[in-house]
Amino acid sequence: MKFSVLYLLLLPVAVVPTFVPPSLGPTEQKVHGKSFDRFIQIWLENTDFETANATAEFQKLASQGILLDQYFALTHPSEPNYVAGVAGDFWGMANDGFFAIPSNISTIVDLLDTKDISWASYQENAPADGFTGFSFASVNYLSPGAPPRTFYVRKHNPLIIYDSVATVPSRAARIRNFNDFAADVNASAIPQWLFVTPNLVNDGHDTDMTFTSAWLEFWLEPLLTDRRFNDEHTLILLTFDENETKGTNNRIWAALLGGAIPKHLHGTTDSTFYTHYSALSTVQANWGLGSLGRFDTDKILANVYAPVADAVGFKNTDVPPSAVPLLNQSGTTPGPLNPNPALFAPFPPPDTSAVGAGGGPVFVPSGN
Ligand SMILES: *[C@@H]1O[C@H](CO)[C@@H](O)[C@H](O)[C@H]1NC(C)=O
Ligand SMILES: *[C@@H]1O[C@H](CO)[C@@H](O)[C@H](O)[C@H]1NC(C)=O
Ligand SMILES: *[C@@H]1O[C@H](CO)[C@@H](O)[C@H](O)[C@H]1NC(C)=O
Ligand SMILES: *[C@@H]1O[C@H](CO)[C@@H](O)[C@H](O)[C@H]1NC(C)=O
Ligand SMILES: *[C@@H]1O[C@H](CO)[C@@H](O)[C@H](O)[C@H]1NC(C)=O
Repeated sequence: MKFSVLYLLLLPVAVVPTFVPPSLGPTEQKVHGKSFDRFIQIWLENTDFETANATAEFQKLASQGILLDQYFALTHPSEPNYVAGVAGDFWGMANDGFFAIPSNISTIVDLLDTKDISWASYQENAPADGFTGFSFASVNYLSPGAPPRTFYVRKHNPLIIYDSVATVPSRAARIRNFNDFAADVNASAIPQWLFVTPNLVNDGHDTDMTFTSAWLEFWLEPLLTDRRFNDEHTLILLTFDENETKGTNNRIWAALLGGAIPKHLHGTTDSTFYTHYSALSTVQANWGLGSLGRFDTDKILANVYAPVADAVGFKNTDVPPSAVPLLNQSGTTPGPLNPNPALFAPFPPPDTSAVGAGGGPVFVPSGN
C-alpha cells in the first residue's frame, strides 16, 4: 500500500529527535501458568465491532486466532475503560480528565507481584519511563514541517493513573515507551504481562481502520512470528477501548492471538460474553492468583477466556445476548470520580469475601 510505504520511510528518521536511550528492561521470568506464560494486551481506539470485523486486516488476524464476538467495553468515554481494565472498577469516572487514583487502591500488578510475575506497560511516544504528564507532543512524522503533534496521552496509560504505580519508582520504571519495547524484545527481556498502547494515530483514535491496518501489518504481524515476543506459551488480546457509536450497546471487536491458542481453534469464533474485566479474571485463573475484590470477580462481567477456563476447570456464566447488560452508560455509576457531586461515593474497600477465578485471597494493600 502506497501509504504504508511512505510511513515506513518516514518513521525512523522522524522518531530520532525524541529518542531516549532505553533503560534496563524487565528481566523475563518464567512463572508458568496453567494455560500461558505471557499475556499481551493491545488496545486500539473507538471502533464499532462491525467496522473492525469488516476490515481485511482484522479478518486476517482473526483467522490466526479466536474472534470474540460478544466482547463488550464497560462505559464511555475512553479513560474509565482503561482504568477498569487494570483494576476492576472505573470508580464512576465519566470523562477523560487528569486523575491520580490514591496509592491504597490496588491493581493487577499487586497480584502479579505476589508471585513475582514480571510486568510492564509499553506506551508509544511517551517521552520517558514513568512519565506522568497529561499528554506529549513529538515530531510530526506524518506531516514533516508541521508543528509537533500529540501522539501520547495519559488517559490511555492505565497504570500511571494509579499512584500505587506512579509514585513507586521501581514500578513507574515499568511504564515504558516503544524505544524500550524494541530494546526489550531484542534482548528477549519483555515481561510476562504487558499492556501495550499504540499512539493516537496508530490506534485509530485520530485516524481510521485503514491507517490502523497498515500499522498492524507493519508492527504486529512481524512480532507474531518473533519468538522473543510470541511463542507457544503466549496469549495476546487485541481489542478496542470502546464502541464508536453511542446510542447502541458497547460491543467491540476482540481476538485472542498467540502461540498459546491451539491450531485447531484458529479461525473460530467464541460467543461467550466477555468484558474488559475478563482480562483480569483470565490472568488470575492462569496463574492461580488472588483477586482485587471488585468486578474482576463478578459472575456476569468477568468470564474467563474459554481456552483458559477450560485449562483451569473454571465454569463461566452463560449470558445470552438478550441478557447482556447495558454497558454504554456514562456518568450513571456512583463513585469517587463521578463528576456529578450528587453521585459521589468514596473508594470502596475491596470485598474480602469475594472469590475470583484464581481462587486466591483478595489483595488488601498494606496500611489499610
Ligand atoms: C465477522 O466477520 C466474519 C468474516 O467476514 C463473518 O463471517 C462474521 O459473520 C462476522 N461476525 C459478525 C458477528 O458479524
Ligand atoms: C540487539 O541485541 C544484540 C545482541 O544481543 C546486540 O548486539 C544489539 O546491540 C542489540 N540491538 C539493539 C538495537 O538494541
Ligand atoms: C445503550 O444501548 C441501548 C441498546 O442498544 C440503546 O437503546 C440506548 O439508547 C443506549 N444508551 C446510550 C446512553 O447510548
Ligand atoms: C456498536 O456500534 C455499531 C455501529 O453503530 C452498531 O451497529 C452496533 O450494534 C453497536 N453495538 C453493538 C452491541 O455492537
Ligand atoms: C485509603 O486511605 C485513605 C486515607 O488514609 C482512607 O481514608 C481510605 O479509607 C482508604 N481507602 C481504601 C479503599 O482503603
